[in-house]
Amino acid sequence: MSQRIVIVTGAKGGVGATTIATKLIQRVPSAGERMIVDADFSGKRSLAVWYDLSDDLDLSRAIGTATVAQSKAGPLVMELARTYEDGLTQTKAGVLRAVAGLSDQALIVVDAPQPFAASIRPFISRAAKIVVVTESSLLGIGVAHAVLAAMERFGIPSSRIAVVQTEVRGKSDLSRAEIEAALKMPLSAELPNERDRRFESRLDGLVSMLAAAPIADSAMIAEKPMFDLRSEA
Ligand SMILES: Nc1ncnc2c1ncn2[C@@H]1O[C@H](COP(=O)(O)OP(=O)(O)OP(=O)(O)O)[C@@H](O)[C@H]1O
Ligand SMILES: [Mg+2]
Repeated sequence: MSQRIVIVTGAKGGVGATTIATKLIQRVPSAGERMIVDADFSGKRSLAVWYDLSDDLDLSRAIGTATVAQSKAGPLVMELARTYEDGLTQTKAGVLRAVAGLSDQALIVVDAPQPFAASIRPFISRAAKIVVVTESSLLGIGVAHAVLAAMERFGIPSSRIAVVQTEVRGKSDLSRAEIEAALKMPLSAELPNERDRRFESRLDGLVSMLAAAPIADSAMIAEKPMFDLRSEA
């Protein structure tokens, strides 16, 4: 499969990950279908609400399946968890069934605050880029540091990771240089508050970078963390 898969993961709550995912699914060029995946297991159903699809997603849901509905705004919307409990029982097989019908040209953007969950592996192992969204506070950078370290343990090459800093509350505690030094990674984008006039052009820069990212070869990213050598049995 050569679908373009982009994962968006907030390194801390409320940093704008879901908002960015909804913008990327609209803007990253695609010759095929567009599917946005709500892989947030907290049961808050942000995308069902955003795309006004709660009823459609409920009607087609069977226990343990990932549900897909067509939004009026354009993209297909997949929801992995209607409740917190759904998130705990969602399976990789369920996710694979739900993407099976998509073409090779499809664009898939996954809003995944818990990117290492077993059911997310089909996406993470084939992601062209994993966008790690962080705010420029000490807490934000601390959590981003932990997420990046976990990605390293999973064998995800840093070339597949784009760190993006947001200013959701309209202020920045740390400078770009301080953030880059703490994370030992360059920032791929600094997105000011959405209401700031520089927001659109900065987002365009991120979109161009994601459009140019090479499609992933699934063999490159391990399905298990590198330290975890147990068998599936
Ligand atoms: N640069 C920005 N990028 C993204 N969102 C922004 C930005 N500036 C302001 N916002 C606002 O911040 C809020 C972010 O909420 P959002 O639900 O996207 O965050 P989240 O990281 O997904 O949160 P959660 O942890 O609850 O999933 C939105 O109201 C959005 O309009
Ligand atoms: Mg969110």
